[in-house]
Amino acid sequence: MSPTKITLVTGANKGLGLATARRLAELGHTVLLGSRDPEKGAQAAGKLAGSGIIVHPVRLDVTDDSSVQAAAAHIDREYGRLDVLVNNAGMLIRKPATDVTGEDARPEFETNVFGLIRVTHAMLPLLRKSPAARVVNVASDSAMFSKTTEPGSMFARSHESFVYSAAKAAVNMLTVKYANAFLDDPALAHIQVNSVTPGYTATDLNGFAGVRTVDEGARASVYWATEGNGTGRFHNDEGPLPW
Ligand SMILES: NC(=O)c1ccc[n+]([C@@H]2O[C@H](COP(=O)([O-])OP(=O)(O)OC[C@H]3O[C@@H](n4cnc5c(N)ncnc54)[C@H](OP(=O)(O)O)[C@@H]3O)[C@@H](O)[C@H]2O)c1
Repeated sequence: MSPTKITLVTGANKGLGLATARRLAELGHTVLLGSRDPEKGAQAAGKLAGSGIIVHPVRLDVTDDSSVQAAAAHIDREYGRLDVLVNNAGMLIRKPATDVTGEDARPEFETNVFGLIRVTHAMLPLLRKSPAARVVNVASDSAMFSKTTEPGSMFARSHESFVYSAAKAAVNMLTVKYANAFLDDPALAHIQVNSVTPGYTATDLNGFAGVRTVDEGARASVYWATEGNGTGRFHNDEGPLPW
């Protein structure tokens, strides 16, 4: 078995995913750069190649079963296993809580929640074949009940991230539920699964209003993709966080 880690980062053609993919490639991982648009994936990989960093673009739309199945089949054919899965792909639609309809809520849940389950489920047979696998789920500070229930706090008053916060809270619960399920199954107990939050990072997601760089924001994902020890936890790059 090849000693390099086989690592898939979803939504890695830009932003935090790209920074995560770059750093993991620098650390010696064989990185599969997931991108729903093959052209954007090739461009991102090409830019990294320009600085001597080799990653392998893979077409992957987390909302599309056939695309996810094709990516899993490709990874199986080429590498025979997956050591690290970073569920990073995500989206945010701003709309005040009181204006959101049931239909409005679908896209964020489809990408941030159902997409995460779709990809994790499809990759499980490959993660099972790794001697020590890791799944990193990218959640958000805005998923935290502890912050959202603090009267007057920024998180209590950010009514426009209504669906996003709920979807990311669901991501945190999925992390705990997967961790518990893996621990109870001897064939999966070697898979660590943890949630991270990057903090408020300047990317397209927030019109580059975030205050952290993508390299800073990617630190927690990189840490739990490489050396973090534990499962079913929620961290930023400074340590554990309350839910
Ligand atoms: N930036 C922040 O402050 C912040 C804070 C907390 C959490 N996060 C989380 O961090 C993750 C990365 O976000 P970001 O800030 O780097 O945003 P970004 O720059 O907008 O990147 C989002 C990435 O997800 C991809 N994506 C969206 N829908 C997808 C789909 N259906 N299938 C596959 N890929 C898809 C995008 O692809 P396209 O280029 O094709 O759209 C893009 O590559 C997200 O989960 C986000 O919720 C960000």
